[in-house]
Amino acid sequence: MAAPESDSECLFSLEPYHVSEELGFILPDPLEELPPYYQPWMDIALQVPELVHSHKLRLHINQMPLLSSQSLQKHSELRLAHLALSAMTMGYVWQEGENDTVEVLPHNLAVPYWEVSQRLGLPPILTHADAVLANWKKNDPDGPFDMENLELLVSLPGGDNVRGFFMVTLLVELAAVPALRNIPTVINGVRCGDTEAVARALEEISESMQDMTDALKLMHDYVDPSVFYGIMRIYLSGWKDNPSMPKGIVYEGVQEEPMEYSGGSAAQSSLLHCFDELLGVKHEEKSGAFLTRMRNYMPPGHKQLIHDISLQLSLKAFVQHQASQRLNEAFQHCVQKLLALRSYHISVVSRYITVPAARARQLRNQSQESEQDMISRAPTALEERGTGGSGIMSFLKTVRNQTKDTLLPETDKQSNR
Ligand code: HEM
Repeated sequence: MAAPESDSECLFSLEPYHVSEELGFILPDPLEELPPYYQPWMDIALQVPELVHSHKLRLHINQMPLLSSQSLQKHSELRLAHLALSAMTMGYVWQEGENDTVEVLPHNLAVPYWEVSQRLGLPPILTHADAVLANWKKNDPDGPFDMENLELLVSLPGGDNVRGFFMVTLLVELAAVPALRNIPTVINGVRCGDTEAVARALEEISESMQDMTDALKLMHDYVDPSVFYGIMRIYLSGWKDNPSMPKGIVYEGVQEEPMEYSGGSAAQSSLLHCFDELLGVKHEEKSGAFLTRMRNYMPPGHKQLIHDISLQLSLKAFVQHQASQRLNEAFQHCVQKLLALRSYHISVVSRYITVPAARARQLRNQSQESEQDMISRAPTALEERGTGGSGIMSFLKTVRNQTKDTLLPETDKQSNR
C-alpha cells in the first residue's frame, strides 16, 4: 500500500514565510524607538508633518549627520529605521508640492536608506509594509486591536486622517488573518483529496473576506476625501510613471543615475495576491504586470509565500474534479466574496479619487480657489493615476473582471440571471 501523503514534513505551512498566526502579514510588536545613536533620524521622522508645514524639513534633513546603518541589528530595528527614513524621504521630495520637487536625495539620507532597504529586501521608498504593517502601537497594550486603541508610530501631513487611512488598512489586514490561516488547509486538503476539509476552509476564507470588506467600510468614518485627495495623497506618491518626476531621483552616494520607484499602495499588500493565486485568478497582461511588479515592494518572505501558493496543484481543477456540491458552492462563494471586496474597493476609490479629481478640475477651470483651496491645488499629475502609478479605474475594473472570470461556469450563468 502506498504511504499516505500526509507526512507532516510535506505539509504546507505559513511558518517559513514570516507570517504570524495571530497577525498575518502585520509586523508583531513593532519597535517604537531605535538605539540612541539614531536619535537624529527619529527626531526628524517624528516631526515630518510639522516640518513640512513650516517648509523646514529639507533644511533639517540636509543638516542631519551621516549615520552608519551597521548598529541596526534586529529585524524590528531595521523595519522602524526603514519606516522613519521612508517618511523623511516622502516629506523631503514632496515638501513643496508637485511643482518644486527635488532631483537628488542627499547622501546622508540616501546612503543609510539604501543600506537598510538592501538588508530588508525592500525598495528605498515608503511601502505598505512600512506605513501600515510596521507603523502601529496599542495605546493600552492589553486593550483591543481597534481604532480607538491604535496609534501610528510615524505620520505624514493630513492630521488624524492619516491615522484613519493607515489604521483602517491595518484592520483590513487583521480581518484577513483567518483567511490566511486557512490557506494551508486548502492546499493540504487538495493534496490528499480531503473534499470536506477544503470546503470548510473555503467557507472560513469567505467569511474572512466579508470581514475585510466590512473593515474597509470604516474608511468613510475616519478619512475625509478632500483631505485624502488634496493633502495626503502626494506624500504616498512615487517617482515612477509620475509625470511630475519623469526621470526618477538620484540617491546620492549610491548611484549616479536616477532610480525610479512606485509609491505606496495597498496593491503592495500580499493578501489579494495570495487569494488570487489560491483561487486561480488570472490577470490580463498589463494589469498583471503591474501587480507582479508590486510584489517587489513586499517583504521577501511574503513575496515567496505568494510564489509558492502559485506552484500548488490547481484548486479550481480539484473542485471541478470532485463534483461535490458543498465544495462547488464554497469555491463559488469565495470567488464572489473576493469580487464583492474588489467592487466595494472600486467605490471607495471613486469617492476618494475620481469624485475629488473631477471637482478639482471644475474649480481650477473656474479659477475658484477660496474655500475649496485644498482640493483644487491637489497635484494634477495624479488625477488619473494611482499612487502606485497605474491608470486607476480601467486597471481596477480589469482586475475585478478577471476575478469574475474565475467563477465556475454553472454559477456564472446563475449569477447573471
Ligand atoms: C481611501 C482608500 C483607498 C484608496 C483611495 C485606494 C486606491 C487605490 C488605487 C488608486 C489603486 C490602483 C493601484 C495604484 O496605482 O496604487 C489601488 C489598488 C489596490 N488597493 Fe486600494 N485604495 C484604498 C484602500 C485600500 C485598502 C484599505 C485596501 C486593503 C488592503 C486596498 C487594496 C488594494 C488592492 C489589493 C489593490 C490592487 C488591485 C486589486 O488587487 O484589486 N486599498 N487602490
